[in-house]
Amino acid sequence: MIDALSYVLIGTPDIPGWLQMATAIAGLQADVVEPGHTVRLRMDGKVQRLLLQSTTGKPTLGMGYTVAGPEVLEAVIRKVEDAGFAVTPSMPEERALRGVAAMAHFRDPDGYRVELAYGLQDAATPFVPGRPIGGFRTQAGGTDMGIGHTALMAGDFAAMKHLYHEVLGFQLSDRGSKPFVAEFFHTNPRHHTIGLADTGTGPGVYHFMLEYKEWDDVGRAYDMALEKPESIGVSLGRHLNDHVTSFYLRTPDGWMLELGWAGRLIGEDWQVSELPGMSLWGHDRTWLPDAKREEARQILKKLSAEGLRAPIAPTE
Ligand SMILES: [Fe+2]
Repeated sequence: MIDALSYVLIGTPDIPGWLQMATAIAGLQADVVEPGHTVRLRMDGKVQRLLLQSTTGKPTLGMGYTVAGPEVLEAVIRKVEDAGFAVTPSMPEERALRGVAAMAHFRDPDGYRVELAYGLQDAATPFVPGRPIGGFRTQAGGTDMGIGHTALMAGDFAAMKHLYHEVLGFQLSDRGSKPFVAEFFHTNPRHHTIGLADTGTGPGVYHFMLEYKEWDDVGRAYDMALEKPESIGVSLGRHLNDHVTSFYLRTPDGWMLELGWAGRLIGEDWQVSELPGMSLWGHDRTWLPDAKREEARQILKKLSAEGLRAPIAPTE
């Protein structure tokens, strides 16, 4: 039903801080619509993938999911309304700013703005990265995989899971409980398009992940982040479930931007599993309480002693 996470909406009080991180470190392209207020960030041939808008209030994150066309959009809207959510039609200026043919939006149980859209436009000009990188991975074998994933610390875990899994039709990829409860869901070959964590501290944004095509681009972003070690929220490491090697930058809004490489793809033969931990190595989560951080260290030692390893997924 839902094809992909095609864009995110970021409401921030710190546009300059975001621009610096997004272009100089992550390598996104900034297309300034209104200086200091509205910026389209590009990561490929599409007109925008992250839409930055200034806010004087609290930072916000919204998710733009795309479907195949008008019939599917109508069907999804009906399902969401039948589940008790009020869906609002979009205004022409909202569609123009996003570069989509159609869009409607609603609030999920934790209050995130969810947009349902189709027809995200191609840009008139080629993608020019903010620094020399090999590009971002938004497709695999010609299939749209979207821009990455969001990971949310759920306030109401059951209600969030019901919406994304039962109503919107995201499929379960796997789940874990160490060092915290989390479930991962996919809508296309990307291992997960959303992760929901039940940390007891939500609702809150944990992170948003982007995937590079080339490993060295993660390393170079890490070099830059190391110049300000406090900007690293999660150290370099490798995930057990999607096999992504990554680190997490703290955004100016407090939540994190995961920059990764070599996510594995989900095929027909996928089996849901219970994860023995969240990472194979690394990924020291500075935000976790000390006891949980220690638990994570012990899990890594155990997995290391067991000799657990994972193949590197092909990136094309
Ligand atoms: Fe992630």
